[in-house]
Formats: sequence, C-alpha cells, structure tokens
Amino acid sequence: MKTEELIEKKIDKNKQGEVLQLSKNNKGNRNIYIESYGCQMNFSDSEIVASILSKEGFSTTKDITIADIVFVNTCSIREKAELTVRRRLEFYNSIKKEQNPKMIVGVLGCMAERLKEKFLQEEKLVDIVVGPDAYRDLPNLIKTVEDGKKAVNVILSLEETYADVSPIRIASNGITAFVSITRGCDNMCTFCVVPFTRGRERSRDPESIIKECSELFNNGYREITLLGQNVDSYLWYGGGPKKSYKKASTKEKKNSIKFAKLLEKVAKIDPRLRIRFSTSNPQDMSIDVIETIKKYKNICKYIHLPVQSGSSKILKLMNRGYNRQEYIELINNIKQRIPDCAISMDIIAGFCSENENDHQETLSLMDYVKYDFGYMFKYSERPNTPAARMQDNVTEQTKQKRLAEIIAKQQEHAFLRMKEKIGITLEVLIEGVSKRSNKHFYGRTTYNSVVIFEKKGYKPGDYVMVKIEDCTSATLKGKII
Ligand code: SAH
Ligand code: F3S
Repeated sequence: MKTEELIEKKIDKNKQGEVLQLSKNNKGNRNIYIESYGCQMNFSDSEIVASILSKEGFSTTKDITIADIVFVNTCSIREKAELTVRRRLEFYNSIKKEQNPKMIVGVLGCMAERLKEKFLQEEKLVDIVVGPDAYRDLPNLIKTVEDGKKAVNVILSLEETYADVSPIRIASNGITAFVSITRGCDNMCTFCVVPFTRGRERSRDPESIIKECSELFNNGYREITLLGQNVDSYLWYGGGPKKSYKKASTKEKKNSIKFAKLLEKVAKIDPRLRIRFSTSNPQDMSIDVIETIKKYKNICKYIHLPVQSGSSKILKLMNRGYNRQEYIELINNIKQRIPDCAISMDIIAGFCSENENDHQETLSLMDYVKYDFGYMFKYSERPNTPAARMQDNVTEQTKQKRLAEIIAKQQEHAFLRMKEKIGITLEVLIEGVSKRSNKHFYGRTTYNSVVIFEKKGYKPGDYVMVKIEDCTSATLKGKII
C-alpha cells in the first residue's frame, strides 16, 4: 500500500469530534494543516493563525500527506475534550515518526496554555506549544523548531485582540461569519478553566470590529456572530481599552462604548446584515441590550443565556453572580419586551454538593423557560480551578442520571418550540444546499432554527419567506412562498 493510502486509512480510523479543517488556498509554498476543537472562538482563532502564517508563505491544506506543519487548536473545558485532543496528537506524532520525520507538530489554544512546557517535557508529543495570545510569534517559533529546538510561547496578554489581523475565511460557507469582540474572561466561575487559559478580559477596538463586519458584508456575507466569552461586558473608552470602569475619568465614561452601543453600530451597517452574538452572561446582560435587540429587525431574536443550574445554592458555589430569582427576572424582562425571543442555555449536571432538590430546581426552571435549545454537560473537575478545591462528590452514576433527565426535558421543550412555528411564515436566510438532498436549501430563521425547503431559483445569501409545514425537534420544514 502506498504511504498516502496508509495515512488516509489511519485518518479514517481516528476520525472523531467536531473538526474544522481549513480548505485549500493555493498561495504559499509550504502547507499547514489546522484542526480545531472546542468553542467558536477557537475556530475563529484558527482563521487568525492561518492569516498570520499566510504572510509567511504558508497555505492551508486538508491533506495531511502534504502537510509541513500540523497544528491542533485545543480545548480544555472538560476532561473529555482534552482526551480527544491527546489521541489526535498521538496520532499525528505517529505519522511524523513513521512517514514524515520533518513534519512539525504543534499544539495551540487552551490545552497549550494549561499544560505549557509539560507537553515538551513529559509527553514528547509536540514540537511547538503556543497559547491563545501568542499567535503573532508563530513565525519565530517555527524558525526555532526548524533550527532543531523545541519552542514554547504561552505568555498571556492584557492587550492582544488581533484587531488588525483579518482572519482568512476559507472555512466558512461565504454567508455566515464569526467576529471576535472580546478575548479572555474575568468572571471566575468556579468550575471554569477559561480565565486561566485565555487570560484577562479585554475588548477590541470598535472601529476595527465595524471595519471587519462592513468588509464581510461587502464580500457577500449576510450574517455575523459577535464572539466573546462574555459579550455583555464589552467596554471600550474613547482613547483605548481600560480595565476598570470605576477608574475611568468622567470624559472617558461619557465616550465609552458598551455592548448595546456596539451592537447598534454593527446593526446599522446594513439592514440586510443579520447580527447574532454569543455568549451572554446573565449577570451582565442589560435592559439596554434587550431594547437594542428589539429595536433592530436585523438583530436576531435569539439569546444564548447559560444558566448552569436552577438552584441558588449551586449558583452561589459556582460564583455565577446571579441567583435563580434574578435569572427568572431577566427571562421575564426579555419575554416582556420581545415575546417571541428564542432562548438557549448551558446546564451543568452534578456540580459539587448538588443534591436531588437542587437538581429538581434545575428541571423546574427549565419548565418555566422552555428553552428553544440547550447544551448540557456533566460536571468535569478541572485542575487548579476554584471548584477543584471543593469535593466532586456527586457520583458518576448520579451525574449520568441527572444529565439524562435534563436532556430528555430539553428535547421535549425543543420539540414544543418547533411545533409552535408550524403554520407561520418566517424569513429565512439561505446558507447553502442541504446535506441530505441537493434539491433543498437549508437556512436559519431569526430564532436560529434550521429550516429545510425546496430550492426554487434562489441562491445562498438570499432572504426568502418560508411557510413552516412540519418539524422534528431539531429542524423545521417548509415551502418558499
Ligand atoms: N462564557 C463561555 C463559556 C465557555 S464554556 C462561552 O462563551 O460560552 C461553555 C460551557 O461549558 C459553560 O457554559 C458550561 O456550561 C460548560 N462548562 C464549563 N466548564 C465546565 C466543567 N468544568 N464541567 C462541565 N461543563 C463545563
Ligand atoms: Fe467560564 Fe464563566 Fe467566563 S463559564 S468563560 S468563567 S463567564
């Protein structure tokens, strides 16, 4: 068997997880293969890495057999995510040993930041370790490795936002794009590793955000998702980013731009450009933001509002900064102003000291909100987080049982929300051809629900009115009218 076939076979056997491979762009003379795991921010960062390296004569490839460099952009959020990445690194390391000793293998992102030099010292799986704030240093680090040494840069920054780097959007469908507006997180939820792997929160210059969004619109994009760990705490002063609002002068405060203002500025670029954002932290979401969503038709009526737990006792232990009642008030505020607003959540089952009563409170909160969509997880203790000092005392079996109950309830609610749309005509932005049938398009409603419908002469990027006729708990089906 030829080497290439061997490698292909290995890849197929190892295929797993949600993997992004930037497609081919034939500009450079060396090939880089980037695989991304985890959150949207990581996928967006991979596009920044591709952009930085394209200036150094690299092009991206989906074909591992011609890769000079393999980068795995990693996630540390739960233990399982790290295990998946580890298997991938072992796999690439074996390709390197057996087929291509010159190939450079690097680890980027949160796991790089969390484990630092350990990757080089103990595991000997990689040549380069680069944290999320050090991508500008990649050209130097690659040179170091080419000189026969290993290279590490895991320095976190108080300022880096990559504001001036235009991401290469070769992984996208040409219609929807992600734009980072903040990096890092200052919230310190006790279970979460992100403040340690992505550093302090900082906001990106609004002018560079508007410029990037306008360029995307001019290039045919029709939907932008503004990204940050906690978008509602976006804050920019006239003269530049600054940590504390309390320390700012009166003039600076007057000139400051908060998230609601930024949202409005992006919405005003063009009414045909849809805006989404993620993630909103309940403790920071303001009425101004809700009013802004209401005011602009092109800001999608959909809010991702992670709750984590329905029990005030657990929320306190998680250091979430709100209790059950405050979360419910926020939901009421949203529904009063935007009655049809879709809402999704994240929930963690089985956090330290969670008892059956706490779990029932989570289920009853779900019954109250009836979320359109949800991401649900079992608690996974992460080393060195504040929660790692608490007792992870809910058994695996109980975590599993509670998670299953949460998922079952969520499916019921999702189905209910989908059924509510039957008979209604909704505006849909066409994103592309359905994977299951080339006679059908898929697109999304303002509520972020996916709709499948017959093509009828339109093209991706067009808005069409679709009458909803049928649904599953995950997809709507309809007809263009
Ligand atoms: N604010 C971030 C949160 C990132 S983590 C954002 O932009 O979405 C995404 C979700 O993972 C969290 O909301 C939480 O529900 C879950 N999560 C984080 N740490 C976890 C842990 N240690 N165990 C289980 N789930 C976790
Ligand atoms: Fe993590 Fe909480 Fe920030 S979940 S990313 S510490 S808002």
